[in-house]
Amino acid sequence: MGSAITGWGDALPERVVTNAEFEARLDTSDEWIVSRTGIRERHVGGTTGELAVKAGWAALKSAGVDGTDIDLLVLATTTPDRAAPATSAAVHDTLGCSGTAFDLNAACAGFVYALVVADHLLDKTHRRALVIGADTLSRITDQEDRSTAVLFGDGAGAVVLERGGADDFVLSYDLGVDGSATPLLYADHGGYIKMAGREVYRRAVRAEILSIERVLGDAGLGADDIALFVPHQANARIIEAVNERIGIPMDKTAIVLDRTGNTSSASIPLALAHAADAGRLSEGDLVLLSGFGAGMTWASAVIRWGRRGAGR
Ligand code: COA
Repeated sequence: MGSAITGWGDALPERVVTNAEFEARLDTSDEWIVSRTGIRERHVGGTTGELAVKAGWAALKSAGVDGTDIDLLVLATTTPDRAAPATSAAVHDTLGCSGTAFDLNAACAGFVYALVVADHLLDKTHRRALVIGADTLSRITDQEDRSTAVLFGDGAGAVVLERGGADDFVLSYDLGVDGSATPLLYADHGGYIKMAGREVYRRAVRAEILSIERVLGDAGLGADDIALFVPHQANARIIEAVNERIGIPMDKTAIVLDRTGNTSSASIPLALAHAADAGRLSEGDLVLLSGFGAGMTWASAVIRWGRRGAGR
């Protein structure tokens, strides 16, 4: 028995912070930010729980189901609203979900981790999962530090994953971590993100290329078989370097980072939801997801797009 994404949604805070705003108060420029990162603006505000609820509602509506139809909620986040309980508990309650909920932290690779975990847990008890990636990185970013402030934004994206259909949903996946890289990118409790940008950049490109080569190889696929690539939205230059090496054209790639910045766990589901809303996905399309983040973590998966879930 397979599964399928039957609904999707996203949420961005109303407040938009443009590069011009940073230019006015930090030693930086729109030209520097756009040429080094591809980011033009980012949305900032709200809590992780609020954004997760908004994206969750939108995904439930898109799938045509209610909260009570959800048996499993997995919330990928690096910025939970409290140390305890998990942010997913409040989201589960507000959305009126059934079954259980838990948070998952794999930094910017979190959503792909959550999707793979949810897919494995779908069974007779858990027939429908709501998988959300939500983060408010602006809360842990020093807004006076030009080297990190310009990079991050807040947001959430969500999908409903339903058991049903004959086809495998995840054709192949690769999840990994290298904890020895922790000093390169971290935030202590109560502190701000510290990052060795150039080294993170170098390792991110390498990790993503290797991970994508693994999932394509495991599924017996070539780059040409992929209808849409949804990469983690950290830096346009990282995406371009990976695409060039793997052989995926930019017009088959989902990009939202120019408008969102790096939204961590939210970035892949946000880009996926925008692509689906734009009609860029058709039944049966193979979609490649790939992300990397603090840890360093990485995660890639090839999934089959299609709305044939249990209720359809
Ligand atoms: N505006 C202007 N100058 C800036 C700046 C800004 N916003 N941020 C940094 N600089 C300066 C640096 O201070 C440095 O100056 P120096 O040479 O006088 O010391 C110079 O620009 C070059 O810095 P460097 O870090 O080498 O630049 P870069 O080309 O590597 O680009 C990043 C910096 C952060 C954009 C890039 O390294 C990157 O994207 N790394 C990956 C980050 C990431 O994706 N993190 C999240 C992972 S999930």
